[in-house]
Amino acid sequence: MTQASSVSIASYRDTPEGKAENLNLDRMQAVQAFNARLVFMNVDESSYEEIVKGVRRVIGCDCCALFLHDATRGELVLKGSVGYDGLPEGLSISCQTLDSLHAQAFREEYLIHLDDLSQSTHITTLSGDLGSNLVLPVISQKGPFGVLDLGNLEPSSFTDSEIGMCNMLVDQMSYSLENMRLVLELRNSRDAVIRGMALLSEIRDSHIEGHLNRICAMSSYLAEQMAETGGYPEVTPDFIDTISRSASLHDVGKVGIPDSILLKPGKLTPAEYEIMKSHAAIGGKILSGLIDEFGAYDMITMGAAVAEYHHEWWDGTGYPRGLKGIQIPLSARILAICDVYDALASLRVYKEAWDYDRVKKTIQDLAGTQFDPDLVEIFLQNPKELEAIRAKYSD
Ligand SMILES: [Fe+2]
Ligand SMILES: [Fe+2]
Repeated sequence: MTQASSVSIASYRDTPEGKAENLNLDRMQAVQAFNARLVFMNVDESSYEEIVKGVRRVIGCDCCALFLHDATRGELVLKGSVGYDGLPEGLSISCQTLDSLHAQAFREEYLIHLDDLSQSTHITTLSGDLGSNLVLPVISQKGPFGVLDLGNLEPSSFTDSEIGMCNMLVDQMSYSLENMRLVLELRNSRDAVIRGMALLSEIRDSHIEGHLNRICAMSSYLAEQMAETGGYPEVTPDFIDTISRSASLHDVGKVGIPDSILLKPGKLTPAEYEIMKSHAAIGGKILSGLIDEFGAYDMITMGAAVAEYHHEWWDGTGYPRGLKGIQIPLSARILAICDVYDALASLRVYKEAWDYDRVKKTIQDLAGTQFDPDLVEIFLQNPKELEAIRAKYSD
């Protein structure tokens, strides 16, 4: 639990925005409209911040925070807050804490309203500045799964009608919140499984985690730059999000390559090289098999494309199919550049790490033969970004 004195609050009710909302006579309608918006809200990690901001706007309180229950840890974990200046990110409160309003509201599944906190010295709140505090449990059919905290600087400042509205608001938004939580949980498990597949196939290669992080970041960076040119309508925000995850699957087929070849320190014989090359087709087969069984979901569909085609060459001399130019899926053309760039810039058992100018020259020399020349130009236009990615995810 945070030290209440380290978190400060400024009045929201006195700001033009807060006043405008307070003057809104039909706040009930604002609450309804807010809940309707929640149902269609984009779900990502920033959704919770948007929710607390929306709650503060429609209720007109000074600050608001949302905690969700982490059943494994038996804790309430902060997911979003507004107006509480200095509240640590990811703050958690044990559900068993006796002097916490939040733990109590959660355990007892009951709204707690402290009208004048100066009279309640035995209670720990989120900030010592609070005059009054309202904590409501968020409950689904399966039971409580979080609490919503609303605070005001002034004591006795939540009217009965505001408390009634908060109750109604939390009741209505519990369904959207539960859905949001499930969607995020599913996404996190999907990302974990995808990363797990990529790591399993490359577990024998000790530097691989840095490489996977870097090419995921570089692929999404290149895709973002492509989108900005306006010349690639297929590169949508969804495409960028998908490639930022599925890029890590490019070498999943290495799981099928024996150690004697994959880890051989010296040069491969022509026969060994042919076996090594089969990792592209193996990867494509593994992931296409998943599509056959579970359906063509974006992440796996793109994963199958990058796994199978990341060694195709723009001039048609690559493998496994010898696809040429735009026959090669766009995601694989993006990945091919990022993969080679990162390999050249990194230390390997068979080579030292090359500096930027040497890597750039090599990639440029291969534009039009190995790589899509338009993508190479976009990729190399901002070396600082590429170096920042390499620095962020160093080995
Ligand atoms: Fe590969
Ligand atoms: Fe790679």
